[in-house]
Amino acid sequence: MTLVEIRDYRLAFDTFDGTLHVLDGIDLALEAGQTLGIVGETGCGKSVLARSLLRLNESPPARVVSGAILFEGQDVLALPERAMRRLRGRRIAMVFQDPASYLNPLLSIGTQMEDAIRGQESAAGEAKRPRRAIRDHAAGLLASVGLAEPHRLLDSHPHQLSGGMRQRVLIAMALAGNPSVLVADEPTTALDVTVQAQVLALIAGLVKERGLALMLISHDLGVVAASCARVAVMYAGTVVEEAPTAALLANPRHPYAQGLIAAVPDIDNPAHKPRGIPGSIPNLLKPPTGCRFHPRCALATDICRSTKPALRELAPAHRVACHHATPEHPGP
Ligand SMILES: Nc1ncnc2c1ncn2[C@@H]1O[C@H](COP(=O)(O)OP(=O)(O)OP(=O)(O)O)[C@@H](O)[C@H]1O
Ligand SMILES: [Mg+2]
Repeated sequence: MTLVEIRDYRLAFDTFDGTLHVLDGIDLALEAGQTLGIVGETGCGKSVLARSLLRLNESPPARVVSGAILFEGQDVLALPERAMRRLRGRRIAMVFQDPASYLNPLLSIGTQMEDAIRGQESAAGEAKRPRRAIRDHAAGLLASVGLAEPHRLLDSHPHQLSGGMRQRVLIAMALAGNPSVLVADEPTTALDVTVQAQVLALIAGLVKERGLALMLISHDLGVVAASCARVAVMYAGTVVEEAPTAALLANPRHPYAQGLIAAVPDIDNPAHKPRGIPGSIPNLLKPPTGCRFHPRCALATDICRSTKPALRELAPAHRVACHHATPEHPGP
C-alpha cells in the first residue's frame, strides 16, 4: 500500500533577491513498511521536502508552485488545518537533526513528553486521561527507545542528558502518536560516530518492530545505505536517481550519483582515492536550464541544456533522470 505519494511537486521561496526555485518537480512514493533514504548535497532541498510532507512550508516566503502530496490517497496540500493536525504526529511523525533546539531547556523531560502525548490525544479528539496514565505512557515510550530508569528521566532537564539521550527522547516523543510514517531529517548528524551508530540501530529496530515506513534524510550516503532498502538521490531540487540500495551502489546510472559514490572513501580499500565532483551546486535563483546537473556533467550535450530529463524506469524499480542513460547500455 502506498502511504505517501509526491507528484510533480514544485516549491519556491519568494525572497528579496528573487525567487528561489528550490524543489523542481519531485516524484517519489513511500510504501507501507518501506525504508527510503534521501541523499544529496547541502542545499539540495532535502529538509524542505521533508517539511512539505507535514505542510510546514505553507506560508510565505514559501510558495507551492504545482504538484500534489498524497497521504493514503488524500491530498495533504488541500486538507483543512484541523485534519492536518490529526495527521501530524499521529500518522506522520518527524525527528530533526538538532535535538537540543527541539527540547525546551526550562522544562523537564516529563512535562514536555506529557504535552506531546496530550497534544496528540486532543488532536485525535480522545478523552483526557489522568496525569498518572500519561506519565506511565511517557515512561513506556522512553523505555522503548532504550533509555534506562525512565521514571527518573522524566524528572530530568535536557541539559542533564547526553546528545544521544536527547535524540532518543525526541524519537520517543515522535512515537507518542503511534505514527505509520517516520521522517527522520539528519537524525544523527549532530552526534558522535559511535552514538550515531546506536541511534541508527534504534531507528532500524523501531521500524521493524512497529512496521513503520521510514524516510531517512542524510547528506551521508553511508548512513542511508546502511539503514534503507531504497535510496533516492537528490540534486538541486530534483530526484536524479531512485533505486534499491544495492542496485544504486553497484550500478549508479546518473553521472551525479556516480560522482557521489566515487566521493565516498573506502576503508577496506585504501588504494581507492575518493574523487570529488567538479564544480559547485547551482544558484537556485537562476537554476540551470534543462538538466540542473548539466554544467557539472562531463556527458552534457545540447538536449541536456535545453530539456529537463524525466525520471524513467531503466531497470525494475530503478529510475534515472538522465538523457544519456539507456536501458541497453549499463550506465552512461
Ligand atoms: N525559509 C526559507 N526561506 C528562503 N529560502 C529557504 C528557506 N528554507 C530553505 N531555503 C532554501 O532552500 C534550499 C534548500 O534548503 P534545505 O534546507 O532543504 O537543504 P538541505 O538539502 O536540507 O541541506 P542540508 O544538507 O544543509 O540540511 C536552500 O537553498 C535554502 O537556502
Ligand atoms: Mg537539511
